[in-house]
Amino acid sequence: MDTIIGIDLGTSTTEAAVMQDGKPVMVLNLENEIITPSAIGIDSAGNSIVGEKVRAQYLLSPENTVIEVKRKIGTGEKIKLGKQSFTPVDLSAKLLEYVKTYASEYLGREITHAVISVPAYFNDIQRQETVEAGTKAGLKVERILNEPTAAALSYGLDHMEEESHILVYDLGGGTFDVTLLEMFDGVMEVKASSGDNQLGGKDFDEKLMDWLISEFMKKNSVDLRKDTFAMVKLKEEAERCKKALSTEDSYHILIPMVTEKKGVPLALDETVTRKHFEEITQELIERTHHPIDVVLSDSGILPDEIDKVILAGGSTRMPLVTKDIREYLNIEAAQSLNPDFAVAEGAAIQAGIIQGVFSQEDSLIITDVNPYTLGIRVTDGITDNRMDVIIPRNATIPVTRSQTYYTYADYQTSANIEVYQGESMLADSNHFLGDFMIHDIPPKRAGVEKINVQFSYNLNGMLHVTASIPSTGADASISINMMKNEETEEDVSRWKEAPSAKQFRTVIRRAERMLKSLETGSFPTLEEDINENLYLLKKAILDEDINAAKGAEQELLDILND
Ligand SMILES: Nc1ncnc2c1ncn2[C@@H]1O[C@H](COP(=O)(O)OP(=O)(O)OP(=O)(O)O)[C@@H](O)[C@H]1O
Ligand SMILES: [Mg+2]
Repeated sequence: MDTIIGIDLGTSTTEAAVMQDGKPVMVLNLENEIITPSAIGIDSAGNSIVGEKVRAQYLLSPENTVIEVKRKIGTGEKIKLGKQSFTPVDLSAKLLEYVKTYASEYLGREITHAVISVPAYFNDIQRQETVEAGTKAGLKVERILNEPTAAALSYGLDHMEEESHILVYDLGGGTFDVTLLEMFDGVMEVKASSGDNQLGGKDFDEKLMDWLISEFMKKNSVDLRKDTFAMVKLKEEAERCKKALSTEDSYHILIPMVTEKKGVPLALDETVTRKHFEEITQELIERTHHPIDVVLSDSGILPDEIDKVILAGGSTRMPLVTKDIREYLNIEAAQSLNPDFAVAEGAAIQAGIIQGVFSQEDSLIITDVNPYTLGIRVTDGITDNRMDVIIPRNATIPVTRSQTYYTYADYQTSANIEVYQGESMLADSNHFLGDFMIHDIPPKRAGVEKINVQFSYNLNGMLHVTASIPSTGADASISINMMKNEETEEDVSRWKEAPSAKQFRTVIRRAERMLKSLETGSFPTLEEDINENLYLLKKAILDEDINAAKGAEQELLDILND
C-alpha cells in the first residue's frame, strides 16, 4: 500500500509527518527544516517558489509574494502574484506540491497520498477547496481531518489508558479552534467543536502594528500605511516583538529607515512591554471565550469537569493564553505537546489508522463531529424562509439523516432544495451552500406528495444531499455539487471612505473615464480587464491591503498607458 503522509497546511507554517515504527516522525523539507513558511512567490525569472526563500524575498518585493493564503480559501477571491492572478486553491496547491516534493525526496519514494488537516470550523466549501488543492498538487487526499482532533490524536497515542475530558485549544496563525473530547479505553470521542476562522497570531501582530502606526503618526505626522515597504518591515518586526514578549518582559523595536518625510529618513523606535502588549490584545484573547462556552454547553460538560487542556498552535506560546485559561476555566493548561508539530503528527497517525499500521489491541478509535448546523429552507404557513434543521451541529460523524416534506402548492411538480449551514432560524441569515431542483413530482393537491431529503455528512466533513419522491418509486435523487457555488462580488462602492482612497483616486478616475469613452461592447476584453482591476483595486482599498492595491493600480496604469 502507498505511504500516506499527514500534512498540517497552516496559515503561517506548513508541516508534514509520516508513521515510522508505530510513531509519527516529522518530515524535513529541502532545506532540512521541519517548519516551512506558508508563503508562495514568483522569482525574477517568473517561476513560482515556496517556503523559506519566499520569506526572504517578501521584504524586498512583497508584490511577488503571497502569505496567509489559508485565510482566503473558500472565498473565491482572486489573489495577485506578480502580474498574474490566482485562486486560493492554485496557491495552496503550490504549497502542497512543495510538500509532496520534499516528502518524496526525504522518504526516497514518490508520495501520492495524504491526510490533510483543516480547522474544525472550516465550512464545506473550504474543505472541498482543500481537497481540490491536494488533487491539483498530485496528492490523493485520503481524509480531511479536523486540526484539534489531530492534536488530540497526537496526545492520545501516548495517553491511551487515561479516562478523561480533554479540551484542545489550538490558536495558530490565522484560526482558533477548540474541541472537547472524551477518552476511554483507547476511544477518543469528539463531543463538540467550535472556533473562530478569523482569529489567530496574525491578529495579534496587527494589533501591535496599529499601535505602532498611531504612535508614529503622533510623533512624526506620517501615516506608515501609505508606505508598502514600511508596512512589510513593520509586520516582520511586530511579529518578532510579539514572539520575544512570550519570554521577555519588554522588547525594543528599532527600524532605522522605516520611511522618509520630505527626503529625510525617519526611524521607528519604540519599547513595548509585555504588560502593554497584553492590554492591547486583551480583546482578542476574550474572543476565545464564546467558542469555549459553546463547546462546553454543546457537550453538556461543566468547566470543573475538564481534566486537561491541551495546547496546540504557535500562538499558545503567549503567556496571555495560559493566563486567560487559568482565569476563565480555573485550570492549568499543559504544554504537553510540541505546539508546532502536534497537528501534523496527528494527521500522520490518522494516515496510519487508514493504512492499518496499528495492531488490534493498541488501536486508537476516534469519532468526530460536524461543527455546523445543516438544513434546508422550507415554506410553512408563516414564512418562506425557515431553516429546517436536518443535521444539528456537533452530531457525531459520519452521519446520515433524512426528513420528509410535503408539497405546499396544488399540482406542484417540482421543488427547489436550498441547502444552508448555520445557526439562525432564518435560512437567509445562514450560509447558503447550494441548491438543486427535484422534478417529476406527480401533480396532486398540496400536502399529498412526499419529498424525502437526505443529508449525509462523511468523515471528511463533507456533505452530500439527495432528494427523492417515494410515491413514484423512481430514483429521483440528485446530489449537490458544492463546487458550483458562485463567487459573490462584494459591494465596493464605499471605497472612497477608506483611509488610502486618496492615494489611488487619480488612477481610478482615469480608468473610469476610459471605460466611459469606450463604446460598450466594442473592446470586450479590454473592458473586462479594466472592470476587473477596478474592482480589485477598490476592494483592496476597502480591505486596506496596500500591496494588492498597488498591484491592481499597476495593472490599470499598464492598460491606460498602452
Ligand atoms: N514564541 C511565540 N510567541 C508568540 N507567538 C508565536 C510564537 N511562535 C510562533 N508564534 C505565532 O504562531 C503563529 C503560527 O502558529 P502555527 O504555525 O501553529 O499556525 P498555523 O498552523 O500556520 O495556522 P492555523 O492553524 O491558524 O492555520 C504565528 O502567528 C506566529 O507568530
Ligand atoms: Mg495550525
